[in-house]
Amino acid sequence: MDADRLRASPNFALAAGMDGRPFIAKDSEPYVQYWLSGRERLLFALFGRRRGLTVAAARAAYRRLADVPDTPLLRRRLDADIAGMRAAGVLVGAGDDLSRYDAGIAEAYLTHRPFPPEIAARIRADAALGPGQAVLDLAGGPGDLALQLAASGAAVTLLDLSRGFLDAARRRAAAQGLPLGLLQDSANRLLHLDAEFDVVTVAQALHWLDDVQVCRGLCRVLRPGGSVFVVHGALSVPDRHPLAHLFGHRSILGAKEERPFAEEAAALHRRLSLLFEALDSPGVDRIDLARPQAGAGWIRARRLSLFRQPRPIGPGFARAFLTDSHIARTGLAPEAFWQDIAARCAGAPADRLAGLCDWALLHFQRSEGLEHAPLGRPEAIPIGYAGPASG
Ligand SMILES: C[S@@+](CC[C@H](N)C(=O)[O-])C[C@H]1O[C@@H](n2cnc3c(N)ncnc32)[C@H](O)[C@@H]1O
Repeated sequence: MDADRLRASPNFALAAGMDGRPFIAKDSEPYVQYWLSGRERLLFALFGRRRGLTVAAARAAYRRLADVPDTPLLRRRLDADIAGMRAAGVLVGAGDDLSRYDAGIAEAYLTHRPFPPEIAARIRADAALGPGQAVLDLAGGPGDLALQLAASGAAVTLLDLSRGFLDAARRRAAAQGLPLGLLQDSANRLLHLDAEFDVVTVAQALHWLDDVQVCRGLCRVLRPGGSVFVVHGALSVPDRHPLAHLFGHRSILGAKEERPFAEEAAALHRRLSLLFEALDSPGVDRIDLARPQAGAGWIRARRLSLFRQPRPIGPGFARAFLTDSHIARTGLAPEAFWQDIAARCAGAPADRLAGLCDWALLHFQRSEGLEHAPLGRPEAIPIGYAGPASG
């Protein structure tokens, strides 16, 4: 999108209240509802095209569609509407970052949170990934996993909200000489995508997303025989770790559950299996002219694999992990916050900085046809009949 254009933020979707009043709701955190006047509703639709519009073009299109003359009063009103929508983040510019993960974090992220090659290799092997296949990496961040998958020859598209992360992924792809498709959009809105994929990955991101909407979207974009891989990670550090107040069990950013990681992963596996079972209903006639094949085969759990990764947790990791919203919750100004981290870790020997990352790889696959029932078939228990014998 050109620098002087604005477009409707991919974070907002049009909805209507019980009384029919239109509003647009932000479907990624922090959640926002923005109630629309008739003028704003039309403007929101006009700015909805992927390449956006200039303000002058939006004014002209509004006048044409609403069939109203160009007056100074109308111009002032439209400009005020556009400014209000821009200030609320409903309209965005080409350089806007739409995610709490912004350009400032990208380099630290790539250095200190490399995606484990063993897990990428497992995905490549389990999906038998190679040339001719289409992969979508949802909320793919600065692209480390996406590029490890692209190295197989598959055509990979990375979708993320963060402009800074997408730019970092573009630079990294160019440096590695690998093609990588990039989409700035919300993973909660895959219903807007027309493409179909053989493999979809979601790594370290489902907790930022609306998993019901994500699963609904996956039901739409996954080809028969295609695979979904969800990667979930959990960090632990011992109580004596210098950053235990941030990354330990009693973190000031929110206490963590103390259940074993394998149980946490199994619960997530169950939850997603149930969501797919509920949302992916091949027996339902879908009226979707763009996708006559939608609904072929069930998406079912295939495999849950666990990985355990000892790793250092120091100031670099903190910079790659903590966003401004996290820091705001500590009550410290960013500068004081980073000074405090540096002071706590200064001179700590390597073993004091040791932490652990547990990883779960959840594999789901869509069957090719409808031959499998989604649930096991229980035996029917015979029961009596108490009515008249005449039937
Ligand atoms: C912890 S990072 C994970 C990045 C990458 N998948 C990885 O494993 O390294 C979380 C990512 O989710 C992205 N994100 C958050 N909400 C999103 C949304 N609604 N749609 C798309 N991406 C989103 C953020 O911009 C960020 O890149």
